[in-house]
Amino acid sequence: MAGKEKQPKIITDKNQMRTWTRAMRTQGKTIALVPTMGFLHDGHLSLIQEAHKHTQLVVVSIYVNPSQFAPSEDLSTYPSDFEGDIRKLMAVPGGIDVVFHPHNLYDYGVESARDCAGNGGMAAVSCLEESGSGHETWVRVERLEKGMCGSSRPVFFRGVATVVTKLFNIVEPDVAVFGKKDYQQWRIIRRMVRDLDFSINIVGFEIVRDADGLAMSSRNVRLSPEERLKALSINRSLSKAKSAAERGELNCKRLKNLVVDEVREAGGELDYAEIVEQESLEVVEEIKSPVVILIAAWFGEVRLIDNMEINI
Ligand code: PAF
Repeated sequence: MAGKEKQPKIITDKNQMRTWTRAMRTQGKTIALVPTMGFLHDGHLSLIQEAHKHTQLVVVSIYVNPSQFAPSEDLSTYPSDFEGDIRKLMAVPGGIDVVFHPHNLYDYGVESARDCAGNGGMAAVSCLEESGSGHETWVRVERLEKGMCGSSRPVFFRGVATVVTKLFNIVEPDVAVFGKKDYQQWRIIRRMVRDLDFSINIVGFEIVRDADGLAMSSRNVRLSPEERLKALSINRSLSKAKSAAERGELNCKRLKNLVVDEVREAGGELDYAEIVEQESLEVVEEIKSPVVILIAAWFGEVRLIDNMEINI
């Protein structure tokens, strides 16, 4: 594709975004959405290539969503490089059609900032509520959002489900592509789409890893070389447990211990490691059907997540 780079249209206004989609649809075009928070890496670019297999047009949203960050989390330090992102998007085979880059999806005008206490009685508050936006409508996927990342990041999935709903309502795509690295998020979005009757096909794309095995993430740039080396224990531990399961070890406690020991010995601080049923995300004690091992661990100031499916 050298020499055939396509300049995407950049849309920042939600009404203009919707108008574009509707105009394309009257021409019979189908549209895929790849939602991102920017600082794109090859994992995101693979999602875009996957999107091209499903529709004629591709929209990438770049929006760091404040409602999925708790005030104690890394919203202000979340990396961004909009110019670099555009260059990368132009170099993707087939390019993309639109970058939707809204400034603030929770700005409803002057009257909106009156009441910022609308957190549904939850003790946890997001950066958005702290900033007093006045937004008080939330999408919750009640059971799937509990446990794992939902335990350590209490506002996270509520924020994700809400912003993805907003993006779906604005972009009105036929297909949306999500990475399976964020496994719990992917399952939650699928359930939300089913439960709320969105007419959108949700495609999950396999984890993309660097050559050393680390799952690609925008957070990886914040790892020091030593921390990165330690973080390789995540993929190693998951592969070890998967091989053991494939050799017949079906006891989840013993499999989990393999994961936990490997990461701790490397110097990682474990947030959680769980073996759960793939669709329901119910914790299992003995592998009897397809499961996924999910892990989150800290390496210095950086929290990484990863997972591996075991299809026995
Ligand atoms: O996975 C992400 O990057 C974000 O959680 C998403 C889906 C773009 C929502 O902000």
